Amino acid sequence: MIDSLGRNINYMRVSITDRCNLRCLYCASGKFSMLGHDEIMRYEEIERIVAITSGLGIDTIRVTGGEPMARRGAMGFIEKLVKIPGIKKVSLTTNGTLLDEAQIKHLADIGLYSINISIDSLDAQINSRITGSDSFGGSYRALIWAVESGLRTKANCVLIKGLNEAQLLPMSQLAINYTVDVRFIELMPAEGAGGFEGVCASEILKQLEGAFPGLAPDSETRGSGPAEYYKSPGMKGSLGIISAKWSHSCQTCNRVRLTSEGFMQLCLFQTVGIDLRKLVRKGTSDEEISEAIAQAIFSKPRGIAPGGEVGMMSRIGG
Ligand code: 5AD
Ligand code: SF4
Repeated sequence: MIDSLGRNINYMRVSITDRCNLRCLYCASGKFSMLGHDEIMRYEEIERIVAITSGLGIDTIRVTGGEPMARRGAMGFIEKLVKIPGIKKVSLTTNGTLLDEAQIKHLADIGLYSINISIDSLDAQINSRITGSDSFGGSYRALIWAVESGLRTKANCVLIKGLNEAQLLPMSQLAINYTVDVRFIELMPAEGAGGFEGVCASEILKQLEGAFPGLAPDSETRGSGPAEYYKSPGMKGSLGIISAKWSHSCQTCNRVRLTSEGFMQLCLFQTVGIDLRKLVRKGTSDEEISEAIAQAIFSKPRGIAPGGEVGMMSRIGG
């Protein structure tokens, strides 16, 4: 549906759990509070909301967390989502560590549209320092299996000064050797992100241009997100940069978020939205919920508010 600023909102990110088996420094530093069982949306409740929003033109869904695969039944839930009438694309963001080869093949078979795997370094030690556990092998294997299974595959890398900033080029090599879009995400000042300093988008681009002669914007659009993609001759995949700051991506923002506690958040940088869990649990009809969502989406905020900090990533789902 079209909001008051003329943006076409067709994409919803759905966080199915705030829990995670890893503790990435930029996401889960310090406070990592966990929601209680009753606070988390049940799968049937989420499926109902997706069916309702699909009627409003939201045809693209990304399943996120926390770590979505850490929630029991996630695979069955994804299978159900894919079949909801009107849903064209279902994608998954995961750290990959809880997925084995058969499960990844299964995801490809049931029609998952794409998979994003968070992997911040190709150096196992650096990776452990960032995620708090020995997660490199698991994430890397998942990435390769995803490519082999024919899924559209992206690698997400958050660069942090003094930690993995030197991983920019090794990570970029993945895009040379595999059909993977390697995306460098600017560190966002999220709750729980600790006092780390990220590497800004312009710096990332400068370094990539230095390392890859002939690097040029890639006109082929990939996915539904705010990343800008670049490619150099001979690269199998591409390189993407996601800026955390207000940019033209707010003007073309196409998304809303459903947090694990059932709050439809209209902008990553502001906690405005609508408590759908409350509506669903007090017996509201589909028509009324649809009307409430339509009104909320219509008044989606213009963009990042000055000084805006993001809430807890593990609940909002990035
Ligand atoms: N800044 C940028 N990206 C973040 N993510 C989590 N926390 C942050 C943050 N503070 C991203 C990770 C992961 C995805 C689930 O969310 O890159 O790939
Ligand atoms: Fe877990 Fe993802 Fe947060 Fe890392 S970024 S702690 S993998 S939810």
